[in-house]
Amino acid sequence: MLIRDASQLPDLAALPLLPRPDRLLLVEPEFYDVEYVINPHMAAYVEGVDRLLARQQWLALRKAYEQLSIPVEVLPGEPFLPDFVFCANQALPIPPGVLSDGASAVMSIMSSSRRQPEVRPFAAALESRGLHLEYLDQYTVRAFEGTGDGSWHPERALLLGGVGPRSSTAAYDRIQAWTGLPVVVLELTDPRFYHLDTCLSPIDGRCAVFFPGAFTEQGIELIRAIYPDAIEVQEAEAVNMVCNGHCPDGQHFLVHPGSPSAEAAIEDRGLEIVNIDTSEFLKSGGSVFCMKLHYWS
Ligand code: ARG
Repeated sequence: MLIRDASQLPDLAALPLLPRPDRLLLVEPEFYDVEYVINPHMAAYVEGVDRLLARQQWLALRKAYEQLSIPVEVLPGEPFLPDFVFCANQALPIPPGVLSDGASAVMSIMSSSRRQPEVRPFAAALESRGLHLEYLDQYTVRAFEGTGDGSWHPERALLLGGVGPRSSTAAYDRIQAWTGLPVVVLELTDPRFYHLDTCLSPIDGRCAVFFPGAFTEQGIELIRAIYPDAIEVQEAEAVNMVCNGHCPDGQHFLVHPGSPSAEAAIEDRGLEIVNIDTSEFLKSGGSVFCMKLHYWS
């Protein structure tokens, strides 16, 4: 059963512990661009990306992970697939010990036909890295966009799933049945925040950064119950994609600059802010979180 209401939440402390993902994948931006409009951020920027600057920003992101001693694996870009660089979206990694086949991933069904051809080359890359792959049934699942919408709790075996613009509830029914784990469904209500990772970024077992304006009342209650020390961000900082920051290690938060209130609140929790300018990727509706796949071997 999917969880849609805080009263249905299990005791989180009784759920199995999750290890931190130990591998991180980036996709080279050589074919990155804004060539079509599938979210409101892209509308003003068709053919408007500074591609040289985008490459420099991507290199800075890669370097930032490496400086935190997180080994980075790099996949080449795919010609004609300008959004392939957003490699959070093509799959949802499943932690080890959940499926009998070991470390696994559920492959996405991209909502836009423009992005559907991304899944096959991505699946090949994951398979060659030893992951077992599961596929959703295209007849019963309209769409599912990986860790764009599927957000693992950083400490407990609990999945939070965004539904609406890019992922359908039927995907989580299937994932719940495969994994036997509790899955919380969060309806997304604002087209600017079309993926869960644009409005919720987990930090640790008690804290996440989130923008209440992107959720229903039930969703807000669920997030507050799951993350009792959650940081609620203002609209202007949410639009600046502060909720698309990434905490890879429990100590650092990699995020596009310019969200002083949220950054101060994150620092108050003892984390170090690492600013990475992602202005060229914001034009496509993405930032740090969606430019990587953090997964388990
Ligand atoms: N242009 C891409 C799209 O609309 C951006 C994806 C960003 N990814 C994310 N997880 N928010 O699909």
